[in-house]
This record gives sequence, structure tokens and C-alpha cells, in this order.
Amino acid sequence: MVALGLLFSALAILARDAAGYTPPASVFDKSVAQKVLATAQTKRSPPNYPSITSTSGVWQWSSPDNWVTGFFPSTLYQMQKRECMCPGSTAVNGATPNWLALGRTWSAAIPALHWHNNQGHDVGFISWPFAEEYSLHPTNASAKQNIIDFALELSSRYSSVVGCTRSWNGASPTSTTGSTDFLVIIDNLMNLETLLQAYKFTGNKTFYDIATKHADTTLKNHFRADFGSWHVVNYNSQTGAVKQKYTAQGYSDSSTWARGESWGIHGYIKLYQYTKNTAYLNAARNIAAYFLKRTPAAYMPWDFDAPASPKPPADSSAAMIAAAGLQILAATETALANATGASKWTAGAQMLITQTASYALKASWQSILSNGTRDNHGTPHSNNTGLPYGDYFWIKNGNYLLASGQTTCPSGAKANVTGCGMDLTGPAF
Ligand SMILES: *[C@@H]1O[C@H](CO)[C@@H](O)[C@H](O)[C@H]1NC(C)=O
Ligand SMILES: *[C@@H]1O[C@H](CO)[C@@H](O)[C@H](O)[C@H]1NC(C)=O
Ligand SMILES: *[C@@H]1O[C@H](CO)[C@@H](O)[C@H](O)[C@H]1NC(C)=O
Ligand SMILES: *[C@@H]1O[C@H](CO)[C@@H](O)[C@H](O)[C@H]1NC(C)=O
Ligand SMILES: *[C@@H]1O[C@H](CO)[C@@H](O)[C@H](O)[C@H]1NC(C)=O
Ligand SMILES: *[C@@H]1O[C@H](CO)[C@@H](O)[C@H](O)[C@H]1NC(C)=O
Repeated sequence: MVALGLLFSALAILARDAAGYTPPASVFDKSVAQKVLATAQTKRSPPNYPSITSTSGVWQWSSPDNWVTGFFPSTLYQMQKRECMCPGSTAVNGATPNWLALGRTWSAAIPALHWHNNQGHDVGFISWPFAEEYSLHPTNASAKQNIIDFALELSSRYSSVVGCTRSWNGASPTSTTGSTDFLVIIDNLMNLETLLQAYKFTGNKTFYDIATKHADTTLKNHFRADFGSWHVVNYNSQTGAVKQKYTAQGYSDSSTWARGESWGIHGYIKLYQYTKNTAYLNAARNIAAYFLKRTPAAYMPWDFDAPASPKPPADSSAAMIAAAGLQILAATETALANATGASKWTAGAQMLITQTASYALKASWQSILSNGTRDNHGTPHSNNTGLPYGDYFWIKNGNYLLASGQTTCPSGAKANVTGCGMDLTGPAF
């Protein structure tokens, strides 16, 4: 009887695991909404955006001309989406903030950046709040026009000789032939979605061709045989030849910087969703397998090849970007009737979320997550910080857990995704 009882409890545990994941309480804790609202209510004049925290969790503010400017407005829209899926779940002190109005207010300084910024390829990231807006309000013509405008700006950085959009202006710090340098960073994969959105809006195939050519060139040159990645590839702008491969923010020129690898997973699975090119699906699978294989049990190091001593700083943002990419990959495998693939990537995402919650939440910090590393290579290093993209993807991961039915709303109700603009199973528009 005892053995039978044990068997039944084992079966019950298996059934529970298959039916639902119990995320760490911190994912849906009321402090999430409280912190986001408190940041939104900080009055800044002229408008400034949270860019990074101090090592004690206090936001540092920057002018809008910063590559991270889009993340905080996009975070406000993700709160709106959570409220849409789970009504009443984002209340602060008994009242639900008007996240949509806040998202719009915090987007207001962005259109003026168009053609007036120093952000290179990051005009894609900067346009994200308009994609968030449009996914909720697909009649909003100004949001649509902003996406097209930033896509045009990104397209203007394309070189048909290289087959990429230029990421950073200027030359590699160690190049002896700087005038022909053309720098492309792995992060640039994340900006291609803006081009694919503009293609959908306009039917202008040039946007599509630039995005896919950039993705193909990057797949060829940014990854090693084992699918670890280089951060920066320096191309010869006159011939398209690769001149150098190196790191700017990771441990070394031959190491794999964790956030770069996470951009790779997320970038390629999104590209697959828009194009249905199986080369991108397989790229996402291979990069994801590499990422999970190299993730230690304790925490996400900022670089997979950093030596054990001194203890490498964590990068909670890399974990959250990868988890979001894995959740999209899992949803894609489900759509392809690949249950084995889906459960593998789902388990990976859940592990990363649980692991991050185990070390990167500090109640006293203004950011939701601590233990982010912006850059532990350049001068000065910046580790043990809060990062706006870490927070954005933390909230987005919670929303993906809801949208996929891995978990229910805090009320116990099933999340209702209808009209909530989620982009888990495919582009939101
Ligand atoms: C469209 O979205 C923008 C923010 O991107 C917002 O300021 C504007 O009010 C919205 N327009 C309408 C008609 O809803
Ligand atoms: C199509 O998009 C490209 C850039 O992606 C742009 O240069 C070109 O002017 C656009 N064509 C039309 C007809 O708008
Ligand atoms: C997280 O950051 C704190 C300092 O804020 C540090 O003491 C701790 O070791 C870090 N955790 C990890 C896993 O790096
Ligand atoms: C299912 O997914 C796994 C992991 O992504 C992959 O290795 C496998 O080839 C996929 N199977 C099919 C039939 O596509
Ligand atoms: C973290 O950054 C500080 C500078 O802010 C630097 O002195 C320290 O070496 C870095 N930590 C590690 C483990 O690299
Ligand atoms: C889900 O939300 C939509 C839009 O608000 C609504 O029409 C529909 O009835 C809801 N479905 C359920 C099962 O509550």
C-alpha cells in the first residue's frame, strides 16, 4: 500500500508538472507593478529615461538619445498587456494604473529622435514602443508611421557589399585600417523585426531583403562551429571581407558573451516567425542548445568563458532575453506539432526564470532585477546593476507564461489573450 501510495504521489507530481509550472512568487508579486509605477511617476525635466542603476539599485537617468530609451515605455505597455490578460492583476494600492496612458506619455520624446540620434542600428530597439502600441491598437496610424520611419533609417545603414546593416559607426579600437571598417554586432539581429514590420505595412520588399540578408550574413560569420558567438565582426566596407572578430563587452575575443548569445536565440526565432525559413528555426535551436548547455546551475555569468576566479559577475538580463526567446521557440515547436522540442525549450525557460529569481531580486532596488552586467570589458566596467532591458524581459516572460497557459493569473483564472497584442505564437500584427 505504501508503495502504491508513493506511486500515486509520483504520478500526481508528474501530472502537475505537465499541467502547469509554478513560477517563483516574485514573477507576479505586487512589487512589480509598484516599482514600474514608481519609476513612471518620477518627474524628470527635460524628459529623461532610466538607463542603468547604481550598484545599490538607484536609477541613473539619461537623455532620450540612448539605445535603451524604448525599453521603459515598452515595459509600461507590457503592464497594460498583463492587465488585459488578467484584469485586476496589476493594481497598486487597490487602483489599476492607466498603463496605456503612461506608455504613450513615455513614448512622446521618441519621434523627435528620428534622424537625430547617435544610436546607429539601435533605431530598431528605439521603435519598440510603437510596435507595442500598434499591437494593442491596430488602427493607430502614427504608431505605424513611426515604425516605418525608423525602419527607413535602419535601412539607410545597409551595405550590399557587406550584406549587413552597419551597427556601430566608426572603427574597431585595434584596427590598423580603420577607414574601411564596417562594424556589425550580434545584438543587431534584434533590430531586424522593425524592418519586417515595415515590410508588412508597406509591401516594400527591400525591407524584407535587407533583414534576411543581414540574418544570413550574420549566421555565416558570427557563429563558431559549436554555435557559440562572437560579439563584433569587422567587415571591409569595400570588399565585404571579414577583417576581425572580437569582443566589446564580453570576456575575450574568443569567448561567448552571454547576452550576445541570448540576442541570437531571440533574433533567429523571431526571424523564423516572419519568414518561415527553416534555416532560422534551426539556428535558433542550435544557439538555444548551446546556451542551455553552457548555463551553470547557480547563476548566469556575463560571459560563458570567463574564468572561475575572480567570480564572474552575473547578467540577469541575458537570462531573461534567452528565456523569452526559448518561450517563443517552444511555442513554435508546439505549432509544428513537435512536443519533444516544445518541452525541452519550455523547461529551459522555466529553469532560467527560477534561477534568476534565486539571486537577482532585491526589494530595496528601484529596478525589478539586480545583478545585470552592462559591460564588463570596456572602461569603466559596469556590473551588479539594474538594466531596463532586464526588467522589460522579466515582465515579458511572466506575460508569456500566462499567454502559453503555463501558469494562470494570480486570481486563478486562465489568462485571456484575445486583443492583448501578445507575440508569442507569431508576430502580434
Ligand atoms: C497612437 O499612439 C501614440 C503613441 O505611439 C499615442 O500618442 C496616440 O495617442 C495614439 N493615437 C490614437 C488615435 O490612439
Ligand atoms: C523601399 O524601402 C527602401 C529602404 O528599405 C527605400 O530606400 C525605398 O525608397 C523604398 N521604396 C519605396 C517605393 O518607398
Ligand atoms: C548579486 O549581486 C550582489 C550585490 O548586489 C552580490 O553580492 C551577489 O554575489 C550577486 N550574485 C551573483 C550570483 O552574482
Ligand atoms: C523537434 O525539436 C527538437 C529540438 O528543437 C529538434 O532537435 C527536432 O529536430 C525537432 N523534430 C522535428 C521532427 O522537427
Ligand atoms: C565589476 O566592476 C567593477 C567596476 O565597477 C570592477 O572593478 C570589477 O573588477 C568588476 N568585477 C569583476 C568580477 O569583473
Ligand atoms: C476573452 O476576451 C475577449 C475580448 O475581451 C472576450 O470577447 C471573450 O469573451 C473572452 N473570453 C473568455 C473565455 O472570457
